[in-house]
Amino acid sequence: MTGGVSGRDVLVEPVARLVGHVAVPGDKSISHRAVLLGAICDGDTPITGFGRSADTEATIAAVRSLGVEVDEDGVESLRVHGKGLTGLSAPHGPIDCENAGTLVRLVAGILAGQDGRSFTLAGDASLSRRPMERIAEPLRRMGGQVATVDGHLPLTIEGRPLAGIDYALPVASAQVKSAVLLAGLYAEGETTVVEPAPTRDHTERMLAAAGAPITIRPTSVTVRRAERLSLGPLEVPGDFSSAAPFLVAATLVPGSELHVHGVNLNPRRTGLLAILERMGARITTYNRREVGGEPAGDLEVHSAPLVGAVVGREEVPVAIDELPLFALAAAHARGESVLRGAEELRAKESDRIEATVDALRALGVRVRATDDGLRVVGVPARPRGGRIASRGDHRLAMLGAVAGLASREGVRVEDADAVTVSFPGFFEMLEELRRTSTVAEDDRR
Ligand code: S3P
Repeated sequence: MTGGVSGRDVLVEPVARLVGHVAVPGDKSISHRAVLLGAICDGDTPITGFGRSADTEATIAAVRSLGVEVDEDGVESLRVHGKGLTGLSAPHGPIDCENAGTLVRLVAGILAGQDGRSFTLAGDASLSRRPMERIAEPLRRMGGQVATVDGHLPLTIEGRPLAGIDYALPVASAQVKSAVLLAGLYAEGETTVVEPAPTRDHTERMLAAAGAPITIRPTSVTVRRAERLSLGPLEVPGDFSSAAPFLVAATLVPGSELHVHGVNLNPRRTGLLAILERMGARITTYNRREVGGEPAGDLEVHSAPLVGAVVGREEVPVAIDELPLFALAAAHARGESVLRGAEELRAKESDRIEATVDALRALGVRVRATDDGLRVVGVPARPRGGRIASRGDHRLAMLGAVAGLASREGVRVEDADAVTVSFPGFFEMLEELRRTSTVAEDDRR
């Protein structure tokens, strides 16, 4: 399912409490990177815990079109037969990146260095609206031959010899950082990326694990030309962004007690935990361990009354995909909440500032958009409910579902199939949790 294709509506009814255990699919960002890096490794990369979704399947299809064999041993098990750094072949037609921003931005960095071959990258209606000059510009500075159409897809890339650059990111974006670092593997000399604020560092961690010449500092990363990469077996931890709807739902629905297992707890991803904690949430982590070179663990959530919070620019990158859920939590909190410095939300799968404001207003919440965020006047009671349009955006569909669980009358999520972009089994997992929660309730009586 891709943006713009309309799917079924799902009515999410209120729930009395959420009690039980869930485990979410493998991290989407890490799954994309595992396949892309596996494709340019020497030898095989076996991947377990792969987060299968429309987005990550687009990445499998993309590397296959570049001549890379991928065995699908199971839903969550893959084996990527790497072609080495420079072994990708030019496909006959455009590579369809569908709805996946991470795929198009990261693969562009790799393709820019495939000397002598030409590539075209395309996507669905939503991806075709998103900004691409942000990667084309630094890649050109490296000597890359990269063209956009008025800053958008289709992107055409002629592989060329590249040279290293020092690049200060104009926006805090892990995708742009990753595109430049991946191109840096092919570049003469050193490539350094400086970040205005810390963004997710999965690319750097995986490059180091694959033996790339990389230096990781708190606010910058340097890579040098790599001779060969080898990743070896990789286990993908659960996706914090897929755990987040459950964490917020269990926080908002009184009497809840929920465990979410095997979640990636990389501090550059878990900004929502710190925000919710400030609001009064009761979420603890336990069984901390390392999975696939990333911090991971289990989470225990008890429902709690919330108070409003202010989220500022420095916190935005580490909570970027969870900010719509912050707005929903804020709608249930006592007092006003403010989100600032989050204009990047307008460049996501939908304009997530407008989409979140429209969604919450439809439930009767007092919320308004600002240029770089939003303001919510919370009421510590269940909102009535209503209809929420996903706009083909997976994060909005999940927001609608959580809103429904914590409403008085339920929420009808329009085009609910948008969840397949990151979490195809989301509604089934939710309904299973509703069922086990009801059983737990009956046992208490
Ligand atoms: C991602 C980075 C973020 C995030 C996206 C996944 C990644 O995008 O919103 O869902 O995997 O690198 P930006 O880098 O554009 O902020």
